[in-house]
Amino acid sequence: MILEEILKGYSLPPKLGFGQTLAPVMFRAEYRDGSWDEGELTPYAPISIDPAATVLQYAQQAFEGLKAYKVRQSSPALFRPEMNYFRLRQSSRRMCMPAVPRDVFARGLSEVTMALADFIPGGSGQSLYLRPFLMGTGPCLSVKSSDAFTFLVIASPSDTYFSQPIRVMVEREDCRAAVGGTGADKVGGNYAASLQATTACIELGFDQPLWLDPRERCCIEELSGMNLVAVVDGELHTPRLSGSILPGVTRVSLLELARHQGHTVVERSIPIDELLDDIRSGRCSEFFACGTAAIVAPISAVGERDGSVVELPKTGQMAARLRSAILDIQEGRSDDPFGWMVDAADFEALLFRMSPGPE
Ligand code: COI
Repeated sequence: MILEEILKGYSLPPKLGFGQTLAPVMFRAEYRDGSWDEGELTPYAPISIDPAATVLQYAQQAFEGLKAYKVRQSSPALFRPEMNYFRLRQSSRRMCMPAVPRDVFARGLSEVTMALADFIPGGSGQSLYLRPFLMGTGPCLSVKSSDAFTFLVIASPSDTYFSQPIRVMVEREDCRAAVGGTGADKVGGNYAASLQATTACIELGFDQPLWLDPRERCCIEELSGMNLVAVVDGELHTPRLSGSILPGVTRVSLLELARHQGHTVVERSIPIDELLDDIRSGRCSEFFACGTAAIVAPISAVGERDGSVVELPKTGQMAARLRSAILDIQEGRSDDPFGWMVDAADFEALLFRMSPGPE
């Protein structure tokens, strides 16, 4: 009843942006004494947390990002949610947290999405961004895993992350994640480690730092929340998953789409200096970022801290084609040849996709 009233009084603001508007409901499940409860949909509200919780003291946390779409669809559809489920399990294992059971994860996504079905913005590129996350909530000041955990799904009716082509700055000093660390996992600490470089690059007129490999600071890895693809001699070249790069759902989906369209896809180590030479000579005709939040975002400039900048065309055909192809599937304008979309109301279908799942 309370939820009904909250939803009745809710409306979307005229301007959304990305992640700025938080939806009025959330899903919450708790892990206590070795097992998970079923979880429930609740009003969106601040949560109380022990000041000594391991998430606050030692960043014991992992999260996901995925979207629900309702552009042409009569009921909201989710894009490859099982990929987020399996990756959250992987990240949870790395952070020594118990896996969220697949029925709890599926219920969380389904209940939040369906409660908000009337508030999913319907413009192309817009969606309901879903943010499932898991954290250690038990108090413990010694460096040990918590024995209590909270899983939440919050949501944000959103536009795409960037509204125009982006300028990136090569980060040659800091690194965001070490090999053997947590760079291949989706954990808050990776993003916290990126903030200093992000702040510095914004001050210099850029949008995002471009991270290099942590060992040699030689090869490109990713941006702070997006993977990278370059079009070199007409082929798609993307950094191989080195162990310190997030295996993005949009990344792998675009690579599958590109191969399906007959393009050559190369996953390899890409030295930054080689890439800059290729951009200058025209061999590299396009460079773009991709991710759930960003979809496909063309990069218009690659700069350095010393002020030098290499420019690229603001729009590229390959990026535009791939962006349309993935959005056409997500927004229900084209067939879904890979079976990527799933009806958010179909709990059994959601559950089936998450089974059996890597243990
Ligand atoms: C996403 O694309 O879902 C991300 O996680 C990027 C960023 C918003 C953290």
